[in-house]
Amino acid sequence: MTRHFIDLADAGPDGLRAMLEAARARKADRRGYPRGQTDDDAPLAGHTLAMIFEKNSTRTRVSFDMAMRQLGGSTIVMEAGGTQLGRGETIADTARVLSRYVDAIMIRTDDHQKIVDLARYAEVPVINGLTDQSHPCQIMADLQTVLEHKGRVDGLSWAWLGDGNNVLHSIVEAGSLLGFPVRIGCPDGYDPDPAVVAAARARGGSVLISRDPVEAAAGADVIVTDTWISMGQAHAEAKLAAMQPFQVNEALMARAAADAVFLHCLPAHRGEEVVDAVMDGPQSLIWDEAENRLHAQKAVLLWCLGKLG
Ligand code: CP
Ligand code: NVA
Repeated sequence: MTRHFIDLADAGPDGLRAMLEAARARKADRRGYPRGQTDDDAPLAGHTLAMIFEKNSTRTRVSFDMAMRQLGGSTIVMEAGGTQLGRGETIADTARVLSRYVDAIMIRTDDHQKIVDLARYAEVPVINGLTDQSHPCQIMADLQTVLEHKGRVDGLSWAWLGDGNNVLHSIVEAGSLLGFPVRIGCPDGYDPDPAVVAAARARGGSVLISRDPVEAAAGADVIVTDTWISMGQAHAEAKLAAMQPFQVNEALMARAAADAVFLHCLPAHRGEEVVDAVMDGPQSLIWDEAENRLHAQKAVLLWCLGKLG
């Protein structure tokens, strides 16, 4: 059966753990190599990944491209506006055609249903490079980063401050699959999708939603936030005002565990959801987190293409 990576649950706890171990091992094994050098075993030699972008990207674009190079494969980047998809060719027909050319497809898009449809009609693995609903590749990198710095993922408490968005949805899902509680501080009207929260709770996940940022952050091991206005959302002063009490600043970090770490998927809006003193402070892991997009995505690619477990 074709392995798609649309959400974290597609891989399940065992698949996620296998990917995290592969990401850790590969990162260690190639330490000191020039970035463009292929891994010694070149496990994806002869394989090509098509990447479709319907939204902007820096990290996802470059890290997937470098991931394929390091695994011995290659990429084709398709800006949706320059393809027939941008002129109305259906997702289903695009999926059928690309499946005859490439070995896997990564897509960054708006409507989550598009990636579901792409996977339905594709004969090769489809990877979610972000939709309005979720961002699982980002959370693989976040998990790898926490594992590196804390030695474990299970049992640590994560606190999310801000908008109930795509990145949060994947964190909530991860918590329920790998066994860590997620406490969410967000203003009324900006909760995560209730269906995502209900699915996590049905798996036994612990999810708290609070209107009090201090209640969410108190004693947390991981503090995480993201932009208050995601791609595709209109700039709204009312939303920015509602989010202000949930800004991650030094006072809020002081309410977390003394050895808490800070994550942000980037790009950040410094001075909005997070202040410079936290972004650039001693608890921030944001550059390791960004680097780990590369290592985590190599593991996702290998899992999808049947090279792991
Ligand atoms: N974090 C993330 O997905 O970054 P890009 O939007 O730059 O890809
Ligand atoms: N929530 C953000 C994440 C960007 C990587 C967005 O969707 O724009």
